[in-house]
This record gives sequence, structure tokens and C-alpha cells, in this order.
Amino acid sequence: MVVLGIETSCDECAAAVVHNGVVLSNVVATQIPFHSKWQGVVPEIASRMHTEWIYDVAGEAVKRAGLKVADIEGAAATAHPGLLGSLLVGLHFAKAFAWARGLPFIAVDHLLAHLYASRLVIEGGPVSSADYPFLGLLVSGGHSVICRVDNFDDVTVLGTTVDDAAGEAFDKIAKHYSFGYPGGTAIDKLAQKGNSEAFKFPMPNLYKPDRQGNDHRYDLSYSGLKTAVVNQLEQFRVLPDTTDADIAASFQKTAVEILLRALFRAVEDTGLQTIVAGGGVAANSYLRARLEEYAHTVTGGNMQAERKVYFPPLELCGDNAAMVAGLGEQYLLRGDRSPLNTSASARVQAFKRR
Ligand code: KG4
Ligand code: ZN
Repeated sequence: MVVLGIETSCDECAAAVVHNGVVLSNVVATQIPFHSKWQGVVPEIASRMHTEWIYDVAGEAVKRAGLKVADIEGAAATAHPGLLGSLLVGLHFAKAFAWARGLPFIAVDHLLAHLYASRLVIEGGPVSSADYPFLGLLVSGGHSVICRVDNFDDVTVLGTTVDDAAGEAFDKIAKHYSFGYPGGTAIDKLAQKGNSEAFKFPMPNLYKPDRQGNDHRYDLSYSGLKTAVVNQLEQFRVLPDTTDADIAASFQKTAVEILLRALFRAVEDTGLQTIVAGGGVAANSYLRARLEEYAHTVTGGNMQAERKVYFPPLELCGDNAAMVAGLGEQYLLRGDRSPLNTSASARVQAFKRR
């Protein structure tokens, strides 16, 4: 099925066309230059720019796919979570498009779409569909979730952050030290030149049950690391002569190890050995290298053949509409439809709690 996907949950105005899980076009008009002055996304600016751009961005996606509007067989859009004003623009555009052309419409969840991204095929690229069930590592600017994934729409949260999301921590540290915007890519780049052993930052201790008896074995926390890097830097210095790159590398290493400690605990407890990553932070080079290492670990002279790791290609880690079109195609092929009065929501809706 040829599906047009629309994504406007934050600051990327995106449209894409997917057919049978193959990405035919993937247009992302970024608003980064318009928000960088404030070192963060300004919601009002984001929604206004989506309104101005969405028509042309969608047209460009159809054109780059080598198709005509009449070739589109279904429409999908992100409905939640995200910035409400921004979500509404893309959602209403997709609904209007579907209504005007008499096409089926589906509203999808942004986080499920991130988890789906690694299944998409970019022409000429590898096919990499992990078998269900697997462990999902969803790490973006607004969310950090370790989950069990039984199907594209069946996700159970095992752990999540108790404070900041992983990407948010990258963004805040980069902002504090003026490393660049957006923070994740800036730190990743700077860290390449740094020594990750220059500072030994603390890891959170969340695994003990709290007073209510809830265990936090797979939960994450970034506020302690953030405080250490911003306010207590000297306390964690190991080497005397350090640079900004050393701060970036040491922070990045700890931020990723926090994710991996919880994730590997989930691997041990559930026995699920396949890991699928998604979201903007899944583009992080240190995280990708560490997970590759996990998949290739040899124990007792034997390769762990059952360990598998899947990432989206870099261009499908951050916000994009190909993941929306791809996930939308799955629902539409199953016969699911969203009513045209479907509205947007800023909140997470799609996940089950364990
Ligand atoms: O998925 P995404 O594009 O948007 C949300 O849904 O939030 O994720 C954006 C987040 C930002 O916090 C950004 O700093 C982070 O992903 N990010 C990275 C990298 N590239 C983007 N974090 C670490 N390393 C990267 N290479
Ligand atoms: Zn996202």
C-alpha cells in the first residue's frame, strides 16, 4: 500500500511515502535554525512554521517518490505525544488530505513510530526486521523507555526515566557549556576528540525497591549526572588537564552506561536477547558501538549467536515521517482506520504498564 506519512510533533516538518515497508521518499524540513537562538524549541514558532510549510513538504515527498498525488492509497499522521499546536497542524493536514481524496486515514503514536523505524528499508539498504518479541530501547528528547515489544502496537513499559529523558540531558549539558545546538549531535561530535576517562561521573542507584515496594530495576535517572556535570565538575575530575571534549566524552559515556545498565538487566531478567533501538539518541555513536559490542560478545569461546541488535539508519533515528508512514501502513493493511474527528494529544498514550 502506498502511504503518505506526516510528522509534525516537534520542530521537524516532515512528510514521506512508504510502500510495502520501503521508503520511497523522506523529506524533513528542519526548523533548527529558527530555534537555535533560544537553544530549545519554541512551541509557538514551531506550529506557525509547520502551518506555512506542510503543504509544500507533503508535495515534495510525493514528487521525490516519483509519484502523483493520485497514486497515494492511504494517509498517516502522528497524533501523540508532542507539542499540541504542532501535532494539530500535521494531523489536520493528513485528515483533510485523506477526506478530500476518499482515502483511509490512520493516526499513529510517535513513540511506536520510533520503535518501528528500524524495520523500514531504504532503497539499496539492508533489510533488518527483528522477530517479536524483543526489548525496545526508545530514547529521544522527551522520552526514555525500556520496553517489551510484542507487536508494532503492543508495547509494555518495563522502565522509564524518573526525571529527565536521555536526549534532554544531552541538550541541557550542551546548553550549559555552549557546546552547540542541538545538544546530542554537538556532544557526540565533540566527544570524539575527548577522553571519556577524564571524569568519573556517578551512576544513579535506582534498583532498590522504594517504600511502596515498587522496584525500579529498569528505571533511569539523569538529574544526578546533570548536577555532577554542571555544578560539581571538580569533584569527579580524574585527570588534571582536561578540555571541553573530555567533559563531553565523560558525560556521554556515563549517560549511555545508565541506559545500558538498565537495558542489560532487562535482557537478563526477561531472556529476550534481541534489542531494537529507536529515537534521536539512537544515533549516538558511543551507544551504537556499545550495543554492537553486546551483539558480538563472545563468552566461553562461543559467539552469542542469539544476541541481535537493530538500529534505524541514522536518517530515521531523529524525527521523520517515514516511520509514521511505515507504521501507518501496518495498521491500514490490518484494516484499522481512525475517525476523522481524531484529535491530538500531548501525552503518551500507546504504552501498556507492566
Ligand atoms: O527523536 P527525536 O528527534 O525527537 C524527539 O522525539 O524528542 O530526539 C531528539 C533528541 C534530542 O534530545 C537530541 O539532542 C538527541 O535526540 N540526539 C542525540 C544525538 N542525535 C540527536 N543524542 C545523543 N547523540 C546523538 N548523536
Ligand atoms: Zn521523536
